[in-house]
Amino acid sequence: MFKNLKYKVPIFAKRKDVREQLYPQEFFPDDIFLVSYPKSGNTWLRFLIGNAISDNNCDFSNIHQLVPDIFRNRDVCSTLARPRFMKSHLYFVPDFGRVVYLVRDGRDVAVSFYYHSLKKGNIPLTTSFAEFLKMFNKGKVKPRVRTWSNHVNSWLDSKTDNILLLKYEDMKRDTFGELKRVFEYFDIPMAREQLISAVAASEFSRMQSLEKEQNDKYHDFVNTDPSIPFMRKGKVGDWKEYFTKEQLKDFIDIHGAALRRLGYLL
Ligand code: A3P
Repeated sequence: MFKNLKYKVPIFAKRKDVREQLYPQEFFPDDIFLVSYPKSGNTWLRFLIGNAISDNNCDFSNIHQLVPDIFRNRDVCSTLARPRFMKSHLYFVPDFGRVVYLVRDGRDVAVSFYYHSLKKGNIPLTTSFAEFLKMFNKGKVKPRVRTWSNHVNSWLDSKTDNILLLKYEDMKRDTFGELKRVFEYFDIPMAREQLISAVAASEFSRMQSLEKEQNDKYHDFVNTDPSIPFMRKGKVGDWKEYFTKEQLKDFIDIHGAALRRLGYLL
């Protein structure tokens, strides 16, 4: 499974015994994992699904109860009705039966990750985007989940069935259609009206207001700089405001193959 790959595979991905120590509980064949590199729009996807399955009652105070993170909210996972939707940022592992792999243009991910790192205090406030981008390109960012292209390639190269590839940019273009695709792909009945209202309940502006109201209620916001919003811009192509020609060239040298296979470079 990991033979002939061009990049270094982390030890936990290869060794089931190591993974079993990490995992919170047993997995079921109908579990659905929402996997992505950080800053690819995973919270939005969780809100969309959380709203669809809870009659639009998802917010920052209960998102972890509706669509938990497999590590952070491990206790919650065992209490969920099946099929369970759970979130993870893991590099490819063969244990996830059914996966939505969410991707976003790595250049927009880098910009979003820069502000995330400032907000979290993971880098000094004086760090420039240029300095951060060098760390990002080497995968030297927190959380440590390899480089963006390693992560993407690991899931795209995997021979696992039941992976639905979702793009942030497609979600922006047709949120309803992409959410519908998720439920259809896994054969989960969901009324059209429910999908429409879940899309409305998960709109950027609504989540932005919720972030302001619930700044102390979501673990990801606690002890972070409130002057740097989580709901930042939610745009496609924001990277153009940040990258110099030189930085773009370096980025393409390093991540070009992954950008190309996802259609981000023509
Ligand atoms: P930006 O920093 O570019 O604004 P994650 O949840 O994986 O950490 O991703 C965070 C990114 O998703 C942020 O991107 C955030 O603004 C964006 N996002 C969150 N909710 C969104 C929504 N409802 N619509 C569009 N983008 C959203």
